[in-house]
Amino acid sequence: MAGKLMHALQYDSYGGGAAGLKHVQVPVPSPKSNEVLLKIEATSLNPADWKIQKGMIRPFLPCKFPCIPATDVAGEVMEVGSGVKNFKAGEKVVAVLSHLTGGGLAEFVVASEKLTVKRPQEVGPAEAAALSLSGLTALQALTSPAGLKMDGTGKQVNILVTAASGGVGHYAVQLAKLGNAHVTATCGARNIEFVKSLGADEVLDYKTPEGATFKSPSGKKYDAVIHCANGIPFSAFEPNLSDDGKVIDITPGPKTMWTYAVKKVTMSKKQLVPLFMIPKAENLEFLMNLVKEGKVKTVIDSKHPLRKAEDAWAKSIDGHATGKIIVEP
Ligand SMILES: NC(=O)c1ccc[n+]([C@@H]2O[C@H](COP(=O)([O-])OP(=O)(O)OC[C@H]3O[C@@H](n4cnc5c(N)ncnc54)[C@H](OP(=O)(O)O)[C@@H]3O)[C@@H](O)[C@H]2O)c1
Repeated sequence: MAGKLMHALQYDSYGGGAAGLKHVQVPVPSPKSNEVLLKIEATSLNPADWKIQKGMIRPFLPCKFPCIPATDVAGEVMEVGSGVKNFKAGEKVVAVLSHLTGGGLAEFVVASEKLTVKRPQEVGPAEAAALSLSGLTALQALTSPAGLKMDGTGKQVNILVTAASGGVGHYAVQLAKLGNAHVTATCGARNIEFVKSLGADEVLDYKTPEGATFKSPSGKKYDAVIHCANGIPFSAFEPNLSDDGKVIDITPGPKTMWTYAVKKVTMSKKQLVPLFMIPKAENLEFLMNLVKEGKVKTVIDSKHPLRKAEDAWAKSIDGHATGKIIVEP
């Protein structure tokens, strides 16, 4: 497809929010030897996308301008690089792109073979794209630091999921139930029935005084908190933790890192664990199978066409999505 142009959205500098995204025509990228070229069917947005644009993660993830953002895509393989062994043209796949290169807000993108997996026909492109960053983060938080066994054979533990109505939270509730946990969840009043429908055993409205204490209505102490909301300190959870309970913070800021260090040095039994998801193809395949088998569902907040992707971007910045925000060609 060398020389062909495609529609994409890109930004040229830090800041600017949705208005900073420009519609452009740029060349369709060519796959390197270990890459596949995808015609995008769906792209899922994450808060990381606009946080990178804002420069919030600049020391760790500096932008290379111009930047076509977004990392979670589903698409059809159009071409494969000379070294690609596991994919061929015409296959439907889902891929996780690097935050350093992005590329998801476009008609075509190249993806590393290593982070591309086949999409079964039972799982739609939007449902599959949504799984990547959010599903992987929920899975890694629950299996590694929280120690849940996803086949449900582990002992029952008590889990609190904050921001359970969001992209990560809605997967965390469902996966925690598969892992044999008792789940307490927090969300806004309008989402209480929704979060219960995902399997949460008890739900707290985060805007009420009871919700702000994180106290389990049935008096449970949490073995792990999958903390997906922003700006809540460890001390707010501490009284509700079991003796060796952990807060797994997926939105760690400088204060989190400081508390983490203090808890380590003082050998505290109650721990704070900052979590940075590392994408793994086998984890994505595992999640895709759970969706295929109907054990986990992707809930879609809204779908937006690529020509109006700035609306999707603004919605993500707004921070009130229920489930995932999707952009389609
Ligand atoms: N460390 C990692 O590797 C990693 C990976 C993925 C995501 N993250 C981070 O994790 C955070 C969550 O991501 P996400 O994709 O789930 O976000 P999201 O989908 O944008 O979350 C939006 C949802 O959170 C709810 N919410 C906001 N504040 C809340 C609070 N204090 N208590 C309860 N619910 C609250 C909102 O409910 P209302 O509308 O009712 O307010 C909304 O439904 C983001 O900061 C993201 O950057 C980190």
